[in-house]
Amino acid sequence: MGYSNQFFKALGVGADNGGDIATFAKQSGVPSKKLKYYNEHNIVPTGNDLEGILVAAKITELSLRLKMGRLDKDIIEAIRENADSILPLIKDRTPSVESPMTSITLEFETVLGRLYKGDCYELLKTMENDSVDLIFADPPFNLAKLYPSEINDKLRTEKYLHWCQEWIKECVRVLKPGGALFLWNLPKWNASLTSYLEGMLTFRHWIAVDIKYSLPIQSRLYPSHYSLLYYIKGERPNTFHPDRLAMEVCPKCYGDLKDYGGYKDKMNPAGVNISDVWTDIPPVRHAKYKRRNGSNELSLKLLDRIIEMASNEGDLVFDPFGGSGTTYMAAELKGRRWIGCEIGPSDIIQDRFALIDKEREILEGYRASINSLFPRKTKLEREKRGLWTCESVKIKKQRGLFSEKG
Ligand SMILES: C[S@@+](CC[C@H](N)C(=O)[O-])C[C@H]1O[C@@H](n2cnc3c(N)ncnc32)[C@H](O)[C@@H]1O
Repeated sequence: MGYSNQFFKALGVGADNGGDIATFAKQSGVPSKKLKYYNEHNIVPTGNDLEGILVAAKITELSLRLKMGRLDKDIIEAIRENADSILPLIKDRTPSVESPMTSITLEFETVLGRLYKGDCYELLKTMENDSVDLIFADPPFNLAKLYPSEINDKLRTEKYLHWCQEWIKECVRVLKPGGALFLWNLPKWNASLTSYLEGMLTFRHWIAVDIKYSLPIQSRLYPSHYSLLYYIKGERPNTFHPDRLAMEVCPKCYGDLKDYGGYKDKMNPAGVNISDVWTDIPPVRHAKYKRRNGSNELSLKLLDRIIEMASNEGDLVFDPFGGSGTTYMAAELKGRRWIGCEIGPSDIIQDRFALIDKEREILEGYRASINSLFPRKTKLEREKRGLWTCESVKIKKQRGLFSEKG
C-alpha cells in the first residue's frame, strides 16, 4: 500500500535522508522536526509553512494535495466535473476475480451462530450483499498492543485508516437496507472514519460511552469516553427500540439525585429516555477469568443495549472482530442469529459459551434494572422511606393532592 512518506515524496525529499531533509528545511524555512511531523501524520501544512514549502519545492498547493491524497471540496468538485477524462487515467482497483476463501475455517457453531477463524476481510468477501441486519465492530485501536493473534497494531495512521476503510466498505455492502452499523473506537479514529462513512450510510448518532481508557496524560484532557458511531443503510432504520433507563437514585438512601420539581407526574413509569451519552457501561476486569483480561472484552451490557435497540429476534448480527466473543454471547442469549470471526485463538470464546448460563444470569440482571423508572428493589426501598414513586404521584393526583412540590 502506498501510504508512507507521501509528504516527502510529493516534495521530492528522501524520507530516510537526514541531509536532504535538513537542506529542504533551510530552503523552506520550516524546521526539520516540523517537516517530519507533516510527513508522519500526512498533514497538509498551512499559512507561512505552506508558502515556504511550495516555493522551495516549486509545486502548487493543488499538486501537493493531490500527491498527498488530501482532497478538499474544491478538488473533489474538479475531479467530479472531469470524471470522464480522468477515468481512463485511473486503473481499476477492483480485483477482477473474487478472492477465494483460502484461510477461513469454521471454528465452532451453535444453534444460532457460527464463528470463523481467519481475516474478517476474507470472510466478508464471501458474504452476500444486503444480508446482515446489524453489524458491530470493535477493531484493534492501533495502540501497539500485543494481541494473541500477533497482528500488527502499530500501523502508520494512513495505513490504519485505509485498512479500516477496506473492511468497512465490505460491511456496508453486506448490510441490509435499513440495517445498522455500529463502530466502536477511540474518538481520534472514529472522527476520521465519519467522513468515509458519510458518502455511504446515514448518520444516526455519535454515542459517547463514558469509560476512562487510559491514565491521565500530561498536557491533554483525561481521555474518558469511547466513541460509538451509529449509522444506518438508507433513510430509515428497520428497527429502533431503545431501552429506557431507571431514574438515577442515591445508592445509599434511594433519594432523588436530580430535582424533578413539578414534573414528577410527567415522568414515564417505563423509564428515562436514553441519551447519546452513556455513563452506566462498566469496564470489564476479571478477577475470575484472568485469561480474558487481555482480550479487550467489552461489557455484555453494552452489546445487550445495542442489539436490543437495532435488531429483532431471529435477525442476523455480524461482528468481524471476535476478541472474547461478547457480541456473539449477547446475540445468542437474545435469540439473534450471528456470524463471528477472529483471526487469533478463539478458545476464550468457546470457553465462554461452555458457561453460557452464567452469562444469561448477568444479562437477566441488567435487563431487570431497566425499562422501569424505579426497578423492583428501588421501588420497595423508596416506599419504605416514604419517597415518591409513580404510583404515589398518581394517587395524589387522583385525590387532587398533587402540588408543584409533589
Ligand atoms: C478489540 S478486540 C475485540 C474485543 C471484543 N469486542 C470483545 O468484547 O471481546 C479485537 C479483536 O480483533 C481481532 N482481529 C484483529 N484483526 C483481525 C482481522 N483482520 N480479522 C479478524 N479478527 C481480527 C484481534 O485478534 C482481537 O481479538
